[in-house]
Amino acid sequence: MENHHEWIIQTNQLSRNFGKVSAVNRINLEVPAGSVYGFLGPNGAGKTTTIRMLLGLIHPTFGSIKMFGHDLEPQNWQYLKQIGTMVESPSLYPNLTGRENMEVTRRLIGLPKSNIDMALDNVNMLQAANRLVKEYSMGMRQRLGLALALINQPTLLILDEPTNGLDPAGIQEMRDMIRELPKKNGVTVFLSSHLLSEVEQTASHIGIIHEGHMLFQGSLENLRSERNPILHLGSDHPERAAELLKQSGWKVRQNGKPGLLVEVNGNSDVAFINRKLNQANINVFQLTVQQPSLEDTFLQLTTIKK
Ligand SMILES: Nc1ncnc2c1ncn2[C@@H]1O[C@H](COP(=O)(O)OP(=O)(O)OP(=O)(O)O)[C@@H](O)[C@H]1O
Ligand SMILES: [Mg+2]
Repeated sequence: MENHHEWIIQTNQLSRNFGKVSAVNRINLEVPAGSVYGFLGPNGAGKTTTIRMLLGLIHPTFGSIKMFGHDLEPQNWQYLKQIGTMVESPSLYPNLTGRENMEVTRRLIGLPKSNIDMALDNVNMLQAANRLVKEYSMGMRQRLGLALALINQPTLLILDEPTNGLDPAGIQEMRDMIRELPKKNGVTVFLSSHLLSEVEQTASHIGIIHEGHMLFQGSLENLRSERNPILHLGSDHPERAAELLKQSGWKVRQNGKPGLLVEVNGNSDVAFINRKLNQANINVFQLTVQQPSLEDTFLQLTTIKK
C-alpha cells in the first residue's frame, strides 16, 4: 500500500487465541485516513474478535494496536473517545422516539445538544426523529444506530456487519450512507462484512481475513489487478487431471463435473498444461482463459489454502 498515508489504525502481528482456537493470527492492518476500509471474511474468520480488540474490549494475546498513531494502552484510552461504533444491531429503547434515544446517549456522554441534529441529519433521520422507535422499520433502526455512533462526531467509525438483517432496499440505503460519510464528515470508516458485493460497493480499501489470517490487503484496484487469470479446463478425466496438476504445484479448483479451474500466468502455461495432460493420455476439449471476477478472487483466496 502507499505509504504517504497517515494510518488511522495500524496493527502489528495482532493475535488473539481462545483456548486452543487461534481466532486472529498475526494480522497487520493498515487503515488509511479518509478511507472506507472493508474487512471481509466468511463466518468465523475473526472479524468481530479483531473489532473487539480495536475497541479495547478484549486484550490481544500477542501483538499491538496503534490508533491515530498512538499505542492502544491504558494511558492512551482517551483516544477511544474519537471512535464511534455500531456492533451488529444497535440497542434502542423502543418506547422512546428516535430523538429521545439520542438524548439519552447525549446526556450520558455529556455532549452539546446540537450534536443530535447533526448526527440525525447525516443519516437522513431528522424527519422520523419524533416517532417512536417501535414503529421504525429495520432500516430506520439501523440508521438511528448509525446516528448514535456519530453523535460524538468521531474521526473513526467502526461498524461490525452494519447491513445485517436488512432487506435489499435497506442494504442499499446503508451502503450509500456509509460511502458518503468520509466526504461529508471526514470520518474514516472501518466496516466488517461477509459479503464481497457489499464491500465492493462501499469500500475504497479492503482486507480479507480467513481463519484468522489476512490473505490480502490493499485497494480494490490492487485486488482486481493482482490476481492471476483463470484457465477453464475441460477434459475426459477431470479427477486425474486435477491430481496431476496439483502434484506439479498448480492451484486447481473443481468446477462442476467435467470442468477444472486452474490459476495460470499466461498462454505458455496453458500450452504446457495441455501438453502435460495429453502426455498422460487425458483428452482436453476446453481451454479458456478468463480474468477472474472479484467473486472468483475472493473464492480463490478463501478456498485454496495458501
Ligand atoms: N469468546 C469466545 N470464546 C471462544 N471462542 C471464540 C470467542 N469469540 C470468538 N471465538 C472463536 O473465534 C473465531 C472467530 O470468531 P469471530 O466472531 O471473530 O468471527 P467473525 O469473523 O466475526 O464471524 P461472523 O461472520 O460469524 O460474525 C471463531 O472460531 C469463534 O468460534
Ligand atoms: Mg462477527
